[in-house]
Amino acid sequence: MREAITVRDLSYKYPDGTKALEDVNMEVHEGERIAIVGPNGAGKTTLMLHLNGTFRCMEGEVELFGKTVSKLKRAEIVKEIGMVFQDPDDQLFMPTLFDDIAFGPINQGLKGDEVRERVDKAIMSLGLSGYEDRAPHRLSFGEKKKASLAAVMAMEPRILVLDEPTANLDPYSRTELIGILNELNDREGITMVIATHDVNAIPELADRIYALNRRIIETGTPREIFFDGELLKQNKLDVPDVFKLFDVMRCFGFNCDKLPLSLDEAVSGLTRVIETAGGHIHLHIHEHTHDEVKKWREKYEHH
Ligand SMILES: Nc1ncnc2c1ncn2[C@@H]1O[C@H](COP(=O)(O)OP(=O)(O)O)[C@@H](O)[C@H]1O
Ligand SMILES: [Mg+2]
Repeated sequence: MREAITVRDLSYKYPDGTKALEDVNMEVHEGERIAIVGPNGAGKTTLMLHLNGTFRCMEGEVELFGKTVSKLKRAEIVKEIGMVFQDPDDQLFMPTLFDDIAFGPINQGLKGDEVRERVDKAIMSLGLSGYEDRAPHRLSFGEKKKASLAAVMAMEPRILVLDEPTANLDPYSRTELIGILNELNDREGITMVIATHDVNAIPELADRIYALNRRIIETGTPREIFFDGELLKQNKLDVPDVFKLFDVMRCFGFNCDKLPLSLDEAVSGLTRVIETAGGHIHLHIHEHTHDEVKKWREKYEHH
């Protein structure tokens, strides 16, 4: 498989001396969905700003499809990679949504009909028809989020980088956005790198996780990372709620060979357990249950 992104020995210090990244190495294959997880201040945003060339590499380098980012022109970079910022107000600044989405394609040198085509396609794929003449700053947060994604998609990048995309979205908009992102990945093979605190979304959104805490701590599938209790504790990382619930059920005698990471996995896991156990599950309180629950708490509570 081709490498979409290669990060080699990347270190970065802000002008005030804050070391944000140290010796970061990372490889993202074409079409892969990567989640970058790490506590506040771990360097997620700083790393992303290096991927799209906003920050020049001071030490180390970033390659996109084998080409060194710092040697590419802005116009070449935006064809490879587009970034959706955490705050849509940092992304949208034109008087109408149409203008905002057209801004990128116009800067790529496209003209009249080509621009309109790009805008229409982005509007359609984000379900924003009828919003073309609306003022972006008047949209709801969920609509603004989709609008920023449309503005990035109109440049037709091969890699999409999203900084905390589900933060502050209501449950409906969150589910909708997760669906849209997965569709872009499925249908157009877009490579995705997503910084997120939303651990419940990770099993649905990512094939692989990079745990970042200034350095890359670990990489693995969501299952590998969420099972590594020590890693989670040391880096203040959380696990999906459904995973925790099934884990605590073990203290009550629930016999489960594979803890679920998502509701779908929970449903199929429960079905399997109940079918093999003769039609019901059996939970009980025994002598050590409360000690086990206490230990369980210590595993997940980071203080
Ligand atoms: N403009 C800046 N100047 C100085 N330090 C900064 C600046 N932006 C971020 N930092 C610091 O760099 C570190 C990484 O920040 P950031 O990349 O925003 O982390 P994250 O996105 O994981 O929360 C933090 O310690 C943060 O305080
Ligand atoms: Mg950040």
